Amino acid sequence: MDFTREFAIESWYNQDSDHDVENAVFELEQGNVLVLPHLSFELSEREKRFLSPSWSDGKAKNISLQPKPQGLLLKGAQGTTSDLEQLKNLLQRYSDSAQSLVLKLFPAYQNYLKVANTSFRPFLVETRSSSYRKDDSRLHVDSFPSNPTMGTRLLRVFTNVNPVGVPRVWRVGEPFPDMAARFLQNTKAMWPLQSRLMHALKITKRPRTEYDHRMLQLHDLAKEDVSYQKNSLQQEVLFSPGTTWVVYSDQVMHAAMSGQYMFEQTFHVPSEALVYPELSPLAVLQKSLGKRLI
Ligand SMILES: [Fe+2]
Repeated sequence: MDFTREFAIESWYNQDSDHDVENAVFELEQGNVLVLPHLSFELSEREKRFLSPSWSDGKAKNISLQPKPQGLLLKGAQGTTSDLEQLKNLLQRYSDSAQSLVLKLFPAYQNYLKVANTSFRPFLVETRSSSYRKDDSRLHVDSFPSNPTMGTRLLRVFTNVNPVGVPRVWRVGEPFPDMAARFLQNTKAMWPLQSRLMHALKITKRPRTEYDHRMLQLHDLAKEDVSYQKNSLQQEVLFSPGTTWVVYSDQVMHAAMSGQYMFEQTFHVPSEALVYPELSPLAVLQKSLGKRLI
């Protein structure tokens, strides 16, 4: 059992041989972790000073660049105007690099890909949390209570930039269909008007679909089950500094165990863009429940 697939890519921008990216989209959509051990993200001498938690404003967990209607907004950071400008440029450069990589690996997504938040994570991975739901050191698929995806996929690119050799350590769990087969029977449908009410009360940013509702319950049920966390099929994966990895985080069971200093770029991929839609969490859940969830 190995849920990782290595690719020999060495550049964010240059075209690789077709051989290098062959199967990448299948491996991704099947729910594997694509590992690029030779794709590092280089910081200039001047930028290396940003490898410190002191640039965080202390309120947010991450420093992030968020696309807003008024433009790109840097959040969670503190410093002088010039520092913040340089930090913003650094995150922007990571975002551009990640976008180029994704289009190279998955050309089928070309006209569909939506660039979402970029984040720089300067803190040590926390393994203690206020509640089990927020504890990302427990195996889970990403699903957020206030942010329904309505079936749009969460594609994430990560790069470990630790300057002193510390790996980012994840646990990767069993394939999505196996996890769903275990927990789906304990999830509930939505009650009538729930979606409209939650949206009207601004609990959710857009109407929650039954798909989102079931995914959120899968997230919670898996995190809550201590025996599952300990005993289910899983693999420890160490991402060394200078390594990039790509996953569908709404599909791959993952848990962040340790590490410090990482960049991450999120993309939204609408379900129409998928090359193997039958492998998506939506298709798996719909087939299992015998009904449409969106
Ligand atoms: Fe996660």
